[in-house]
Amino acid sequence: MSEKIPALEMRGIGKSFAGNQVLANVTLTAQSGEVLALIGENGAGKSTLMKILAGVHHPDSGEILIDGQRRNFERPADALAAGIAMIYQELSLAPHLTVAENIFLGREPRRGGLLKAIDSRRLNAEARRLLEDYGFRIDPQIPVGRLSAADRQLVEITRAIVEARRVIVMDEPTSSLTTHEVEELFRLIRDLKRRGLAIIFISHRIEELEEIADRMTILRDGVAVFNGDWGSISTDEMIRHMAGRELKEIFPPRQTTIGEVRLRVSNLSRPPVFSGINFDVRAGEVVGIAGLAGAGRTEVVEAIFGAQPASGGEIELNGERISSSSPSLAVDKGLGLLTEDRKRTGLCLNLSLSTNITLANVGSMLKNLRLQAKSELKTTQGYIEKLNIRPPFPAMPVGRMSGGNQQKSLLARWLFAGSKVFLLDEPTRGVDVAARSEIYREVNSLAESGAAIVMVSSDLPELLGMADRILIMRRGQMVAELAARETTQEEILKYAAVEEG
Ligand SMILES: Nc1ncnc2c1ncn2[C@@H]1O[C@H](COP(=O)(O)OP(=O)(O)O)[C@@H](O)[C@H]1O
Ligand SMILES: [Mg+2]
Repeated sequence: MSEKIPALEMRGIGKSFAGNQVLANVTLTAQSGEVLALIGENGAGKSTLMKILAGVHHPDSGEILIDGQRRNFERPADALAAGIAMIYQELSLAPHLTVAENIFLGREPRRGGLLKAIDSRRLNAEARRLLEDYGFRIDPQIPVGRLSAADRQLVEITRAIVEARRVIVMDEPTSSLTTHEVEELFRLIRDLKRRGLAIIFISHRIEELEEIADRMTILRDGVAVFNGDWGSISTDEMIRHMAGRELKEIFPPRQTTIGEVRLRVSNLSRPPVFSGINFDVRAGEVVGIAGLAGAGRTEVVEAIFGAQPASGGEIELNGERISSSSPSLAVDKGLGLLTEDRKRTGLCLNLSLSTNITLANVGSMLKNLRLQAKSELKTTQGYIEKLNIRPPFPAMPVGRMSGGNQQKSLLARWLFAGSKVFLLDEPTRGVDVAARSEIYREVNSLAESGAAIVMVSSDLPELLGMADRILIMRRGQMVAELAARETTQEEILKYAAVEEG
């Protein structure tokens, strides 16, 4: 194995942005036919390293070898020509073009004749065949801009697989996918391995890497701190390498007194999506909602928030009935929602951190126009400190921040709006270990200050570590309620699983 020339070698890579060093002397190798897991916390430099490989960024130092040959990538097209394809973390498709056009962009089948026009019939047929082969149910002829985040991700995956000849980089490809879609992706990855490609796979989900990774490289603060076979160290050790801290420090203890009911949901229904949903959440409580994808959890919290109103049932906030729910009314009454797809529905990515934080409570900022900018800045700086938002720049567009920091910005918005009931939908999806534990600490301090928290999560250890009670949904119904301290992942899954027939 050690004598084999690796498909890819990156040696001594260094990179700074505006004097800020983000990669230092990083070395990474990937063999033909293997999956290399590239892991590390947000901001560790994983995407930057891979963008150097893809010709998007130029390294300040170091070299790249493909099959033992030194290569220099001036631009992405050079990397592509060398057989390197990449699935970007931030999607890179053209929204106005169709699925098929995106998959074959720059390589469209053309008709003969002088004009060499694009053969759209063949283009669509080939795209349809590929998508079917890959098990993705997507119409090749609709514009990408109309697809869900998950479907766009699947198109991005398809395009990269079509392009890849030597190395394929997947930068957090699963963050918006369902379990089933992840399984389809893994099937494709196994196929790519058999075809002799080197696959570099970036993910935060260790359970997921467990299924496909052959080796790993761990980055921390721009330095490769560990290289080795998958399985050669324990999960705890991996986390220690990534974060420099222990697993048991992740779920900090909470000191709360449970108070009056802050949120009461009675017989909430929107058939066939969910019906007969009853529960309440008290001040100081964290109530988890577990369930398989599609069980209706997101729909229920969106109905409570008024984003997708229910057709029947009642919602009471702090003892007061909300008649016709709408998000603005919900915010007025002290409700905050952290959505699963924060990029699409929560944050304004092009706007600054401070605008995003003060958005839900602009009124208080407008009272004295002269002081507005100053007080906005002061407020923002307060939350930057309180939540440890990084980088600490109020004017930075939120779209340039990491997932964990985007999530903290949304939390800051609801705190500033004076929310007392928080609906958190997959609050740590795509968020690294360090930012996760900061979010957990903040959730705890919210509960300690008397807020009521509903936490939808597919991460069962997270629910077990954070919730007081866990409600379980199955096919739009609430089927069980368990005390977090007395239950197990197995028991939760037993209730969440859909019975046959
Ligand atoms: N284009 C850029 N300009 C300036 N700084 C950047 C740029 N891209 C990434 N960074 C910074 O480089 C560091 C590493 O980021 P990144 O490679 O995205 O990490 P990861 O993918 O591991 O989360 C972060 O501090 C990030 O803010
Ligand atoms: Mg990244």
